[in-house]
Amino acid sequence: MTTSAEFASQPIGFGTWPFKDEEAVRSVASAIEIGYRLIDTASKYENEQAVGRGIAASGLPREELFVQTKLRGHDHGDVRGALERSLEWLGVDYLDSWLIHWPLPMLGLYSKAFEQMAHAREEGLVRSIGVSNFLPEHLDALKAETGLVPAVDQLPCDPSLNRPELRAELAARGIQVQSWSPLARGGEVLEAQPVLEVAQARGITPGQVVLAWHHSNDLVPIVRSGSAQRQRENLEAVSIELTDAEVASISSLPQRGLGDFDPRTRDER
Ligand SMILES: NC(=O)c1ccc[n+]([C@@H]2O[C@H](COP(=O)([O-])OP(=O)(O)OC[C@H]3O[C@@H](n4cnc5c(N)ncnc54)[C@H](OP(=O)(O)O)[C@@H]3O)[C@@H](O)[C@H]2O)c1
Repeated sequence: MTTSAEFASQPIGFGTWPFKDEEAVRSVASAIEIGYRLIDTASKYENEQAVGRGIAASGLPREELFVQTKLRGHDHGDVRGALERSLEWLGVDYLDSWLIHWPLPMLGLYSKAFEQMAHAREEGLVRSIGVSNFLPEHLDALKAETGLVPAVDQLPCDPSLNRPELRAELAARGIQVQSWSPLARGGEVLEAQPVLEVAQARGITPGQVVLAWHHSNDLVPIVRSGSAQRQRENLEAVSIELTDAEVASISSLPQRGLGDFDPRTRDER
């Protein structure tokens, strides 16, 4: 089983939503060539075939890559079928990591689905199983119903949604956090004063400051860029260690809420 320590050895992942078709092929191949190894997709993104073509186009041996996809809501009741489809579309014979995309508590199926995913792991079709958008209440129910603890929880996290209590809780449970939308989709966070100050002082870009903030908080950012130049810039950022004072100043940004992305109510299938 992949442990959270092995996830931490992947300092950054390449995000592929909302790329489709040739854009997905091109950006995945470029990201791999630049040095990304963790490639993140999802059945829900409807781009697994194109991501698989990008992986193939890179020419890198399979074992050097870390391929992660997610079980969509429609498939909570058909875990085996979903796995077969994802493997076929990605053109691989195992996944490094497979996550439940959203808990969908209104369906009440995530614990059964996770048990099926654990069977697939025992068969060697999946190296590691995890979740996304799970809160402690969902993890508690999962543990109580299956005895299983996911290796990773992929959550929305950035300096304006920095979730310190949740991160501490997951760390205490030995669950590696991956941050989705780590740049808050390239919005205001990149123009925030503390981010700009660190960028200027260190001679790096605001995007690099924010990615270094994730890295300095033991988070694995899953970042997307269609530009080879920014892909490279982002990858370089995870070797930058911020000081405690820099982390604290960036963490002091005004906090936003989850909005429509509250996993207790979001019905995304
Ligand atoms: N588990 C889930 O429920 C979930 C939900 C959403 C997303 N995700 C995953 O997380 C990944 C990343 O999230 P995201 O795509 O929403 O947002 P993101 O990575 O925070 O931001 C991507 C945006 O930022 C821009 N950007 C990238 N690097 C930059 C830099 N250094 N400086 C300035 N702008 C930069 C990109 O533009 P350019 O392309 O022009 O560079 C793009 O518009 C997704 O692709 C997906 O794999 C998971």
